[in-house]
Amino acid sequence: MNEIRTSRPNDLDAFWMPFTDNRSFKANPRLLARAEGMHYYTPEGREILDGTAGLWCCNAGHGRTQITEAIQRQAAIMDFAPTFQMGHPIAFEAAARVADMLPEGLSRVFFTNSGSESADTALKIALAYHKARGQAQRVRLVGRERGYHGVGFGGMSVGGIGGNRKQFGAMLPYVDHLPHTHLPDRNRFSHGQPEHGAELADTLENLVALHGADTIAAVMVEPVAGSTGVLVPPVGYLQRLREICTKHGILLIFDEVITGFGRLGTNFGAERLGVTPDIMTMAKGLTNAAVPMGAVATSDEIFRTVVEGAPNGIELFHGYTYSGHPLAAAAAVATLDLHREEDLPGRAMAMLPRWAEAVHGFDRAAGVVDVRDFGLIAGIELEPRPGAPGARAMDVFRRCFEDGLLVRVTGDIVALSPPLIVEDRHVERIVEVLDGAIRAVPA
Ligand SMILES: Cc1ncc(COP(=O)(O)O)c(C=O)c1O
Repeated sequence: MNEIRTSRPNDLDAFWMPFTDNRSFKANPRLLARAEGMHYYTPEGREILDGTAGLWCCNAGHGRTQITEAIQRQAAIMDFAPTFQMGHPIAFEAAARVADMLPEGLSRVFFTNSGSESADTALKIALAYHKARGQAQRVRLVGRERGYHGVGFGGMSVGGIGGNRKQFGAMLPYVDHLPHTHLPDRNRFSHGQPEHGAELADTLENLVALHGADTIAAVMVEPVAGSTGVLVPPVGYLQRLREICTKHGILLIFDEVITGFGRLGTNFGAERLGVTPDIMTMAKGLTNAAVPMGAVATSDEIFRTVVEGAPNGIELFHGYTYSGHPLAAAAAVATLDLHREEDLPGRAMAMLPRWAEAVHGFDRAAGVVDVRDFGLIAGIELEPRPGAPGARAMDVFRRCFEDGLLVRVTGDIVALSPPLIVEDRHVERIVEVLDGAIRAVPA
């Protein structure tokens, strides 16, 4: 069961791996063959503690029988049915279950298959909404430097990670970016939300002054920026962004692909941070990543404006063959059951003091220039190796894997986001292995 099954044994050539240094990986592969609870296992049976919930997604831990059995049952009942002009019960059930969890004010759910599709869907819904209410001139989209909204053209354009854009030409037109919120000189080693930087939200007013408020359709931000290396919003920042958006009729979109489903100790980041967006994207933890699925939630007003404002016939010319896929929908319902039964957000919340104390044990450790945490997330930023940005953290990543821990690195930042079922002993082990790796790797 653990061997790599290919027609040509040991052949790693065919798979062009995503976001991977294919050449060095294939020269020295790191393979995961099995997963259970808090751990992965390599093909040789070596145990790897999962410090990242896969890719910020297996929030309930791995191999949860309830989810697996729900997928198996659904596969036997009905493998696939379209949701274009047709429907099937489990997709409606999944949407209703997501809607039940949403912050007040959001109630409609559009299904996608990934975070990237959710980001592009959210942007398209924002444009369609303004058009439906007679404001078709609102075509500008605003993101934020260092934001990550996946890899579709919409999310990539509104996203603000230069490395993810530079190979791909011109991007969408009419896109602007707010400044990122990383202020190391003022906020270094903050516990939770940093104190300084709320005023950075006011830069949205500059874009309003530059372009005219009635040209801007939406602002999309991650409540906590994850993929760029964990940037926590300064106290009051999101509130100000919300106020400015409301004042100018601009839709606020929260990309909750990482922060949704318990990661911050509440169902969604919106609740923890006390700000409700007009549109919210999600994916990852929605199905515990057992079957790909994403979703976009909107207010009733947005749904009604688009749907009731349309002439008879299809109201939104958008959707995916697999929107509301039966297997994904079954996985979502089972995952959300687990969330409720085990109170995963509450469990994460209870772990937060221990988590923060553990990760801030790295504050001012040799080679560590910043530590950031919020919810069950941490970013530990290393001093880059002179002339080789990112190399030090990559070596730490490799060393951790050798020593039995999966972490994630972006640039010189080590990001941690364990499954929400993490226990004290796992937290201790994460710190121990990471500490050993940081010490072992040359500066
Ligand atoms: C905030 C955010 N949005 C979108 C995405 C893209 O999700 P996917 O890789 O499922 O397309 C990610 C992935 O990490 C993310 O963190």
